[in-house]
Amino acid sequence: MRASTTRPVFQPCSRLHELSAEEAALYAQLDPQKIPQHVAIIMDGNGRWAGKRALKRFLGHQQGAESVQFVVETASRINLPFITLYAFSLENNLRRPKSEVNFLMKLLRSYLVGNVKRMNDNNVRMEYIGRICELPSEVQDTMQWASEATARNTGTTLTLALNYGSRSEIVDAARKILTDLIAEAHQRGCSLEDLIQVDGLEARLDEHHISGALYTAHMPDPDLVIRTSGEQRISNFLLWQIAYSEIFITDRLWPDFRGIHLLEAIQNYQKRERRFGGLGETFTDEDLDALEPAAEVAEEIVTELTPKQLAPR
Ligand code: IPE
Ligand code: IPE
Ligand code: MG
Repeated sequence: MRASTTRPVFQPCSRLHELSAEEAALYAQLDPQKIPQHVAIIMDGNGRWAGKRALKRFLGHQQGAESVQFVVETASRINLPFITLYAFSLENNLRRPKSEVNFLMKLLRSYLVGNVKRMNDNNVRMEYIGRICELPSEVQDTMQWASEATARNTGTTLTLALNYGSRSEIVDAARKILTDLIAEAHQRGCSLEDLIQVDGLEARLDEHHISGALYTAHMPDPDLVIRTSGEQRISNFLLWQIAYSEIFITDRLWPDFRGIHLLEAIQNYQKRERRFGGLGETFTDEDLDALEPAAEVAEEIVTELTPKQLAPR
C-alpha cells in the first residue's frame, strides 16, 4: 500500500514541556539541530519478554503495543518528522503459527481503534508500508479508517510496516517501473524497446527511479535504525533505504522500551561521524592542504611500494 500523495507539510511545534522530567534532562544534552529526520525501529523481543515471565507469547505482543504508544508520543514531542516501526513482516505472516498471526491481527485492530484519539491529540499521522492488500479485509478497513482519521495531522508521521518485506518491496518497485513504462509505450503507440531507445536506458532507470518506486518514496531514508533485543541482523527491513543509516542495537526487549530509550539512541547517534563514503566533517581544509599532490603520491608508490624486482628500469 502506498499512502496518499497529498500529505500536509511537517510542522514542528513546541511540546518539549510534555516530556517526562527524565526525558527532558536527557533531551537537554542533545543537539536540537541534529535530531534525525527519520528513525526506523525493528521492534523485537516480545516473545522473549513473555517467556522470561513464564507468560504466553501473546502477552508479550500486548505489552509491546503499549511501548509503541509511549515511543511515538516521545517522538512527536521532540519533533521527529518520521518514525517507522517494523510491526509484522511478510515472513512472520508466512512462518508463524496461524493462532499467533490471528492474534497479531486482532491486536493491530484494537491498537488502532484504541489509539487514534491519542494520535490526533499528539498531531501524529498514521501510514503503512507493506503488502497490505494480503491482510484480512476487516484489518485493512480499520487501517484505512485510522490513516484517514489522522491524515490532516501535521506532526510526526508514524509508518507501520505490516506484512512488509524489503525484497518484496524491491520486486514491487521493479514491477511498477516496468508497468509504467509499458503504459507509456502504449500511450505513445510505440514498442517498449523503441521507448527506451529514445532517451537511453540510463535516463529511464537509475537510483532515483528505484527510490521513487519504493513504498517509502515520500520519506527521507532513515538516519537511524534501532533494533531491540540484541539480534544483530536486519531481517529484511528497508534494505535499500538503510544503505548509510546508523545502526543502534540494544539488548532491551521491545516491551521494556520507552521514550527515554529512544532519546538514548539519538544521543548515541549524535556522537557518530557519518561519512557516506567520504572522509567526514572532521577532515578539514588544512588536512586537504597537507595532502601531497597526486603526481607526487604516484611517484612515491612507484619508488617506495613497488617491489624492487618489479620497479620500472
Ligand atoms: C517481535 O517480537 C514482534 C513480531 C515479530 C511480530 P517477536 O515475536 O519476534 O519476539 P521474540 O523475538 O520471539 O522474542
Ligand atoms: C523482525 O523480527 C520483524 C519484526 C520486528 C516485525 P523477527 O523476530 O521476525 O526477526 P528474526 O526472525 O529474528 O530475524
Ligand atoms: Mg523476534
